[in-house]
Amino acid sequence: MVTEFIFMGLSNSQELQIFLFVFFLVFYVGILFGNLLIVITVACDSHLHSPMYFLLANLSLIDLCLSSVTAPKMIADFCSKHKVISFKGCLAQIFLLHFFCGSELVILVAMAFDRYVAICKPLHYPAIMCGNACVGIVASAWGTGLLHAVSQLAFAVNSPFCGPNKIDSFYCDLPRVIKLACTDTYRLDIMVIANSGVLTVCSFILLIISYTIILMTIQHRPSDRSSKALSTLTAHITVVLLFFGPCILIYAWPFPIKSLDKFLAVFYSVVTPLLNPIIYTLRNKDMKTAMKCLRKWNVNFRVKS
Ligand SMILES: *[C@@H]1O[C@H](CO)[C@@H](O)[C@H](O)[C@H]1NC(C)=O
Repeated sequence: MVTEFIFMGLSNSQELQIFLFVFFLVFYVGILFGNLLIVITVACDSHLHSPMYFLLANLSLIDLCLSSVTAPKMIADFCSKHKVISFKGCLAQIFLLHFFCGSELVILVAMAFDRYVAICKPLHYPAIMCGNACVGIVASAWGTGLLHAVSQLAFAVNSPFCGPNKIDSFYCDLPRVIKLACTDTYRLDIMVIANSGVLTVCSFILLIISYTIILMTIQHRPSDRSSKALSTLTAHITVVLLFFGPCILIYAWPFPIKSLDKFLAVFYSVVTPLLNPIIYTLRNKDMKTAMKCLRKWNVNFRVKS
C-alpha cells in the first residue's frame, strides 16, 4: 500500500532550485498581498458595493485559497531533496484544488454574465443583479465547487494504490495520480475528462459566447463610453484565457502533452492568481481611487491614534 507520494518537482537542477525558490516566493507574497488588498478595499469602500466588485472580491478570495493549496508546498519543496507528500495530504490537495477551481469557474462565468447584463440590458440591471442574486451566485459557486471536488475525489479514494508513487509534478494532479493506481486506469481517465473536462469546456464556451455578444453590442456605441467598457472587458478576457487555456489542456485535451502539463499547471496555481490584482488594480479607475482613499484614511487614522 502506498502511504506517501514523491514529487519530481519542476526541475531537478540544483542551481535552478534556488532561483525558482526566490522567484515563486516573490510571486506568492505578491498573490497574498494583492488579493488581500482587493478584498479589503472592496469591503471598506462603500462605492465599491456593487455586484461586479463583490464578485471580484470573491474571485480574489478564491485565487488566494487556490494558490495556497499548491504554492507553499511547492516553494518549501525547492529547499528539500525529498519532496514527499502523505497519501492524505495528496487527497486533500486534489480535493481543495478542484473545490476552488470549480468555484472559480462559476465566479468567472458570473462576472461575464454581470457585464453582459450591465452592457446589453442596462435598464434591467438593478432588477436582475439585486443583492439576493449576487448572494445566490456566490453560494452556487461554492456549491458547485464542493460537488465537483467530492465527485472527483470519489474516484481517487476508491482506487487501489500499490506500487509506483512518483509524481512528475509539484502537486497532486488528479490525472497523474490516477495513472499510478493499480487498476485499469482507462475508465478513471474517462471519468476525469467527463467531469473536469466537460465542466471547463462548457464554462469556457459560455464565456466566449457572452463576451462575443458584449463586444458586438459595444461596437455600435459612441466611442468614449465603449472604451471604458472595452478596457474592463479586455481585463476579464485576459484572465479567462490564461485560466482556461491550461485547465483545458490538462483536463480536456484528448492528446496528453505529459511533459508540458506541469508547467501549464503553474499558470492557474501561481500566474493567474497574481494577474487578477495586477490587472484590476492598475486598469480600473474606481479601484485605484478607492485604494487612494484607503491610504489617506489609514494615514488619518494613524495620526489620530
Ligand atoms: C462575496 O459575495 C457576497 C455576495 O455578494 C458578498 O456579500 C461578500 O462580501 C463577498 N465576499 C468577499 C470576500 O468580498
